[in-house]
Amino acid sequence: MPELLIAPSILTADFARLGEQIREAEEAGVDWIHLDVMDGRFVPNLTFGPVVVEAIRRVTQLPLDVHLMIVEPERYLKDFAQAGADWISVHFEATPHAHRAVQQIKELGKKAGLALNPATPLEAFAPLLPELDLALVMSVNPGFGGQKYIAHSTERIRRLARLRNQLNPACLIEVDGGIKPENVAEVFRAGADVVVAGSALFNSQPVAENMKQLLGEVYAAGSR
Ligand code: DX5
Ligand code: ZN
Repeated sequence: MPELLIAPSILTADFARLGEQIREAEEAGVDWIHLDVMDGRFVPNLTFGPVVVEAIRRVTQLPLDVHLMIVEPERYLKDFAQAGADWISVHFEATPHAHRAVQQIKELGKKAGLALNPATPLEAFAPLLPELDLALVMSVNPGFGGQKYIAHSTERIRRLARLRNQLNPACLIEVDGGIKPENVAEVFRAGADVVVAGSALFNSQPVAENMKQLLGEVYAAGSR
């Protein structure tokens, strides 16, 4: 069985019935819940903070994967940890002190991730890779759900997988943005361990239907 974890982003879910939507995803067999935190500064969009994470923590046992698209993430790490995040990722581009932020996440007893924008040289992962639990490759420019997968991301995932195997085989590779049934197999084969899927899972069809389609493509790809 292929080992690919599916982390639905709630960004395109119905926020008026978030609890229900998360339950629906859980019943459809998703592995994590991906929470996109945006501050209107690092990215043009605004979403939610620790209060919503805390509310979601109460309705699911699934690991909460918090993706911080905020400047100076150091200021809020403790709040997100206390709200019940299991995985916390900060952006390399959002702080001059990515190393310190990663250390802080680990000191809070959480799994630490580092995210890179599509234009950031992949080598930025290297100095921190030995200490990371998660390396997050953005396959769209962060800020909005429903964008198109940037094609050069596949080569970046491949290169990152090689780097990861050398420096820290335990670190998971997560790919975020524009994941659809038509590219999920390619992303999996390139080396992704976790894929985030927003609009591919939360749309006008039931989540279970969408999950079946997505996983069908992964199974068809076989093992890597
Ligand atoms: C983009 C977010 C993603 C995104 C995923 O800034 O980090 O998690 O919303 O949504 P889709 O799958 O629709 O690209
Ligand atoms: Zn995200």
